[in-house]
Amino acid sequence: MSSKTDITPDAGHEAQSTAVVLDEKFENPGIEEHSPHRRTDVDPKVARRAATQITWWFILSAVASVLAIVFYIALPIKGDDISTVHPNNLWLGLSIAFAFLAIGIGAVQWARQLMPAQEIEEERHSPRSSDETRERAVEILQQADEESGFTKRKVLRRSLIGAAIVAPLPGIVLLRDLAPVSQGLTDPAEKLRHTIWGDENGLRLVHDTSGEPIKAEDVQLGSAFHVVPSNLAEVEPHSQKIIEKSKAAVLLVRLPEDEIVEGAEDGYHGILAYSKICTHVGCPVALVEQHTHHLLCPCHQSTFDISDGAKVVFGPANRPLPQLPITVDSEGYLIAKGDFKAPVGPSFWEIER
Ligand code: FES
Repeated sequence: MSSKTDITPDAGHEAQSTAVVLDEKFENPGIEEHSPHRRTDVDPKVARRAATQITWWFILSAVASVLAIVFYIALPIKGDDISTVHPNNLWLGLSIAFAFLAIGIGAVQWARQLMPAQEIEEERHSPRSSDETRERAVEILQQADEESGFTKRKVLRRSLIGAAIVAPLPGIVLLRDLAPVSQGLTDPAEKLRHTIWGDENGLRLVHDTSGEPIKAEDVQLGSAFHVVPSNLAEVEPHSQKIIEKSKAAVLLVRLPEDEIVEGAEDGYHGILAYSKICTHVGCPVALVEQHTHHLLCPCHQSTFDISDGAKVVFGPANRPLPQLPITVDSEGYLIAKGDFKAPVGPSFWEIER
């Protein structure tokens, strides 16, 4: 379908002269002649078969939607059992995605194969209504105002406007339920404010799963690797502690000390520890660019400068990765001086207080 625009004499003079210049320079190819040669146009059998196929897509979509409800009931997420999250999300996601995909495919095929295939040229008209229509609209509005008393009854009007402003507030308050609230914590931010690093003093930083502690002298310049607290190195994959372990995940890096921005250091001789949980929506950040000291989140490309307190230099994250202050114990092993300096994870709410 193509369309032309009506150009009013007062508004369109410039546009007309531009069009004339363009017409002189370029040949107008016009609209190609359309010849519908679809098999569904000429063979009723093919059209019927297409209609049947499209119907099946819609039936499959309905089945997938029902399956989504079945999966929701049959594979519930059970309280603290994190192993139940994966099958629930997987099957729910797959069935809902297929339901929408099937509707989309059916609708597109309907339009492509069975709806009329013809070119339509439609003149655009001025969007302004006629004077008569406009006057009539004003009359109707005035009449409605008089009959309803909207302008006269000030108290009623103001209370209605007030109610309309307040009405969305419960929805905003309910957003708090998006974050977990338990263990006596009523503030969702508190759940992320504290990690196990702050629970016990001087926890060692260890390699994940092997539990091997890390000596400061063994951390090579330019290295970057994942570490966890010593008391969480070995936890059952489906235990509640896995959540604590995830929150406490740290990326350990070593930079030349003279390349660390003054005031941003809270490490040990160039060794710095940052939360691995992206402050955008929580993906694990892990890609380090050695030359620029940039740490990249693979999900939406948020980039943090680890030489400058992991400040955001690019992307949708809006606060730095929280830093874990570290030092060494009497044997030279790296330990945490306390908890992260800010809550870990995404900033769904204002947490810098
Ligand atoms: S989760 Fe890291 S940029 Fe979005």
